[in-house]
Amino acid sequence: MDITIEKSKPLKGSIIIPADKSITHRAFMFSALTKGKAKISDFSKGADCMSTLNIIKQLGVNVEFLNEKELIIDACNALRSPKEALDCGNSGTTTRLMAGILAGQHFNSKLTGDISLSKRPMKRVIAPLEMMGAKIKHNDYKLPIEIFGSNLNGIKYISPLASAQVKSCILLAGLNADGQTIFSEPYKSRNHTELMFEYMGADITINNNTITLKKSQLNPVEITVCGDISSAAFFIIAALIVPGSDIILRNVGINETRSGIIDILKAMNGSIEIQNERVISNEKVADLRVKYSDLKAVTIEGSIIPRLIDEIPVIAVAATQAEGTTIIKDAQDLRNKEADRISAVKTELFKLGADIEETQDGFIINGKKQLKGDCEIECYNDHRIAMSCYVAGLVCKKPIKINEFQWVNISFPEFLNLFSLINS
Ligand code: S3P
Repeated sequence: MDITIEKSKPLKGSIIIPADKSITHRAFMFSALTKGKAKISDFSKGADCMSTLNIIKQLGVNVEFLNEKELIIDACNALRSPKEALDCGNSGTTTRLMAGILAGQHFNSKLTGDISLSKRPMKRVIAPLEMMGAKIKHNDYKLPIEIFGSNLNGIKYISPLASAQVKSCILLAGLNADGQTIFSEPYKSRNHTELMFEYMGADITINNNTITLKKSQLNPVEITVCGDISSAAFFIIAALIVPGSDIILRNVGINETRSGIIDILKAMNGSIEIQNERVISNEKVADLRVKYSDLKAVTIEGSIIPRLIDEIPVIAVAATQAEGTTIIKDAQDLRNKEADRISAVKTELFKLGADIEETQDGFIINGKKQLKGDCEIECYNDHRIAMSCYVAGLVCKKPIKINEFQWVNISFPEFLNLFSLINS
């Protein structure tokens, strides 16, 4: 599906942000590991989370949809050997977390994925899983991989990366491993796994960036998934850069390990008001009021990077509209996402007329620049590149065309619909 985007009038009104992808994956997978029934409400309907749901069904878990918003995961029996390969589609989270679950089972399994996922590095999870006693067959640490179920032992793993996917993989393997598993990371990555493990009764202790987990059985619990700050990010930045905008985004997860985007945009002089703070299923949630602002450049580096890693492409769009030079560093892992996001963002924003330079681990962006548009944009099979370019299109002088915009369905099928509600 190709779409055309024109210069936007002021964005006005209020929308409800749909479910968090990371939390939905975890709610589905962790419920599948209990010995009971759990109700999950307001889950993400993106293709990535549906890949996870299909895989747990293939592993013998019963999934019953009560209606559009609620489903029951019935995991009364242990997981069983799948008849076919488990297709993770485009989803890195499905692959890396499932690898942790499958490594300690009493059966063998095979994980596959689409072209983009099959190029992504899996050594980051395969190497520590092998230290725990896992047996995994792979070719150059890429999908497809075959996992031969084994008895695992706990390890102490000091991760070189601040990655929630690596952390969650090791902790999921640790649930089923003898002894204790200790994981530490250089900076704190998103902590939804730790919060949900606590909520489901695991024997887990958290000390800054170090987590200790003893072999545990998770209990089934009802989970309502809050809205995804990574989805809200596109609306936050759209409202900050489209003159005259004033919108309210309801139901946004503001977990501190995810809210780096709010901190950075406030430091850039963005008007973001946090209203109605509350807690839903052990996660902090709020409504955000966002108004058009005169943005100023900042430097983004170090420990904040994992707290806004998925938002960097759209933050780069904000930087084109900020006065001064924005520098983004320490974000080299962006090259290992659904696409090489450093190269993709540079190429597409440059086409739109931005003054942007690519570095090995980020960008240098000079603003404020009137984007000219009047070109065709590629989205590199990457949902976040597609949505970031859409936001840039709202402030281009001339219309832009984005090819294959259907990639948004990976995380955010409601995207165009919600934009039409604040742009009419
Ligand atoms: C995710 C963790 C992040 C993020 C991804 C989702 C998760 O990846 O980029 O979109 O749900 O754990 P890394 O942990 O590899 O940085």
